[in-house]
Amino acid sequence: MAKIMILNGSARKNGNTSALINSFVEGARAAGNEVVEFYLQDMIIHGCLGCNGCTRGTKDNNLCVQNDDMKQIYSEFMMADVVVFASPVYFWTITGTLKIVADRLYAALKYLGYGAFSRKSVLLMTAGGSDYSQASRWYETYERNLGWINLGEILGARKTAEAKALGASIQ
Ligand SMILES: Cc1cc2nc3c(=O)[nH]c(=O)nc-3n(C[C@H](O)[C@H](O)[C@H](O)COP(=O)(O)O)c2cc1C
Repeated sequence: MAKIMILNGSARKNGNTSALINSFVEGARAAGNEVVEFYLQDMIIHGCLGCNGCTRGTKDNNLCVQNDDMKQIYSEFMMADVVVFASPVYFWTITGTLKIVADRLYAALKYLGYGAFSRKSVLLMTAGGSDYSQASRWYETYERNLGWINLGEILGARKTAEAKALGASIQ
């Protein structure tokens, strides 16, 4: 059983990205995994300040100097085996909402160090068109440089069966 944390960066709670996520979750739960989804649009999460406070001992109460909803994500991230980045394509890449959270994970990286920061991960995306190249490259670069393990990328709202199968494949 794996602990799966989903970061839903869509602006529409019941939109295409959520439908893809729901299929993934159905498969993942049926396989006995524990899933927690964060709907980022409903959370108050500010951009990284670049202050490096996270490297200067702010970590007793919070990994980051900012006191916002990122706290919930940090605590779940510490226990997560798998992180799912989910987003619609906005201007050929992930949404700003999701990118802010990816940036803010910097504090967890500083706290844990590279090895312990590493996670398995998944990319789930939908788009009006079919060009996922820049988003996919962002994800693969993040993975490669941070030593994460890519479990799969599901790119397209119609790929609900693939999303369900990917969820079910996680143990
Ligand atoms: C601000 C904005 C930018 C978008 N940019 C792109 C884009 O660059 N390429 C594309 O194929 N679709 C683009 N779309 C379409 C969405 O990616 C697509 O409708 C997606 O499935 C919406 O997901 P949602 O239902 O979870 O919101 C854009 C939509 C919006 C609102």
